[in-house]
Amino acid sequence: MGKQANDVRLTEQAETNENDFAEIVAGLSGAQKFLSPKFFYDDTGSQLFEMITETPEYYPTQTELGIMQDHGDEIAELIGPQASLIEFGSGSSLKTRLLLDQMIEPAVYVPVDISRELLVASAKSLNADFPDLEVLPVVADFTQAFDLPSPRVMPLRNVVYFPGSTIGNFEPEDAKSLLDVMYQEAGEDGALLIGVDLQKEKSVLEAAYNDSLGVTASFNLNLLRRLNREFGANFDVESFEHYAFYNEAMGRIEMHLRSKKAQNVRVGRETFSFRAGETIHTENSHKFTKEGFRALAARADFEVREVWTDDRDYFSVQYCTRS
Ligand code: SAH
Ligand code: AVI
Repeated sequence: MGKQANDVRLTEQAETNENDFAEIVAGLSGAQKFLSPKFFYDDTGSQLFEMITETPEYYPTQTELGIMQDHGDEIAELIGPQASLIEFGSGSSLKTRLLLDQMIEPAVYVPVDISRELLVASAKSLNADFPDLEVLPVVADFTQAFDLPSPRVMPLRNVVYFPGSTIGNFEPEDAKSLLDVMYQEAGEDGALLIGVDLQKEKSVLEAAYNDSLGVTASFNLNLLRRLNREFGANFDVESFEHYAFYNEAMGRIEMHLRSKKAQNVRVGRETFSFRAGETIHTENSHKFTKEGFRALAARADFEVREVWTDDRDYFSVQYCTRS
């Protein structure tokens, strides 16, 4: 806690490798094998995610950036002066730069991310580019309890920022629990600014998660490489393949890793057998209707006050306050 990372004060949640290992073993022990998408984001995984955002098929990032460019001034007006901006899953903080440029004397920026190297690098770079802004990065799994650092100056209000439609990576109940945490962090006069990906044609969605350069496939398969590196696994990565499709009934993209043959894999002292064609389910990415997100937000006592979208109605940025 509170140790110095060159010029930014970094807060770190305690190491949880054993908990992670137990979670991985539990996930691989079920009838449908499952691994949480939070395990994608080691250093390599974060770099691969950044590369996904630059593929022509992956529309969410460019579309959300466009919305922030077009409506940043209105958003900054709603946020008001001297606010604290707390970002969940900040990654490279690219969209945040646009927001901070428009915000009126932002008081403090608290980026929270599980991926340490990218978080520290992004925080340092923001610290250099916004010299009047206090930047207080937190390395944490935001699905677990974590402490927020205290800023030098008391902000006038807290705004939780959750771009990228990372909310879509959670099952509805878990998404509601995460919004409950954000509700607490926002405090009485606080707000939530959230990126929400919208339902659209299956062909557009499936192309976004099956890019022609194979970057998404590498991102998915890196999970197995990570298990080999960090959790004593012996996956033969070549004998698994990326598989992503839109599940219309559930309104979500599903990503899986499919075993090309029958095989046994060791993870630490545990052994898992795979049938040919059997998958590990690695990610859901829910796509919302505007009404669907409004209803989800309402379950966590947030009221949607403004919704901005792009010309094609592909993506939305939504401003919510506590109702
Ligand atoms: N906000 C960025 C990045 C989105 S990618 C954007 O809009 O482009 C998702 C980000 O959330 C990654 O940086 C990843 O490391 C982080 N993340 C995913 N699960 C997390 C968790 N459980 N706790 C903390 N960070 C998490
Ligand atoms: C971070 N998250 C919102 C991305 C998504 O689109 O669900 C992660 C991703 N998975 C594959 N491509 C991008």
